[in-house]
Amino acid sequence: MRRRLIFALDVPTTNEALELVDLLKDEVGLFKVGKQLFVHGGPDVVKRIRKRKADIFLDLKFHDIPRTVAKAAVEATKLGVAMLDVHATGSVEMMRQTATEVSKAAKAYGLKRPKLLAITVLTSLSKADLAEVGVRSSVDNQVARLAKLARQCGMDGVVASPLEVATIREACGPRFLIVTPGVRPRSADIEDQKRVMTPEEAIRAGSKYLVVGSPIRNAPDPVQAARDIVAEMRRGARPPRKA
Ligand code: C5P
Repeated sequence: MRRRLIFALDVPTTNEALELVDLLKDEVGLFKVGKQLFVHGGPDVVKRIRKRKADIFLDLKFHDIPRTVAKAAVEATKLGVAMLDVHATGSVEMMRQTATEVSKAAKAYGLKRPKLLAITVLTSLSKADLAEVGVRSSVDNQVARLAKLARQCGMDGVVASPLEVATIREACGPRFLIVTPGVRPRSADIEDQKRVMTPEEAIRAGSKYLVVGSPIRNAPDPVQAARDIVAEMRRGARPPRKA
C-alpha cells in the first residue's frame, strides 16, 4: 500500500525537496514534482531525486500540439520518471502520439515506460467554470467522456477528484489507473480542499494512487503522518465491516 502513496513535493527549492525525499523515501511510493519545483530546479532536481533511487511523478500537465507534447513526454521518459501527465482536452491525436512516442523511446533507451496519465477536469473547476469556456456538460459527464477517450488513446489512467472515482471506474473498467489528490487524513484540517475524502474512503472508492502534500509536509512528524495515511489506506483495502 505504501507504493500507492504519492507525496507532492510542493516546495520552492531543490534543497527543501531533497531533504523531504531523504526523510520520506522509505515511507511513500512516489514523489510528485510539479510546476513550481520544476520551473525552479529543472531537470537537475529530477535527476538528483532519481540518484536517490526514488520514483517520480512528473506533474507538468502537458497541453500543446501533438508533436510538442510527444517530444516533451519523450524527454521526461529519458529522465527516468515513473509517471507523467497530459491534458486529455489536448486531443485524441495528442494523446495517441504521446503514447506511441513514449513507448518507442522507452524501448530504444532500455527504460521502463512511464505510466501515462490524463487530466480530465481540474479539481478546481465547477460546472459554471466549464460553461464559461463553452463546455455544456456536467463535471461528471465531462470527466467520464475524457477518461474514456484517454483509455482509447493508450493512456494508463487519469488524475481525478476522489468524488469522480466511481464514475471513472464504471466508464473505464477495473484496470484503468485512477490517481486522486483531494485526500485528507481523518485528523486533518480541511483547509483549501472542499471536495475531499479520507485515504480509507478514496481507496475503498477505487483509487489506485493517492496524492498527498500538505497533511504530510506540515505535520509535526511527517514520517508518522505518512505511516498513518498508509494505515488508513490499508483499512480501505479491507472488505467493509458488517454492521
Ligand atoms: O493539498 P495537498 O497539499 O495535499 O495537494 C497535493 C497536490 O494535489 C498538489 O500538488 C496539487 O497538484 C494537487 N491538488 C489537486 N486539486 C486540489 C488540490 C490539490 O489536484 N483541489
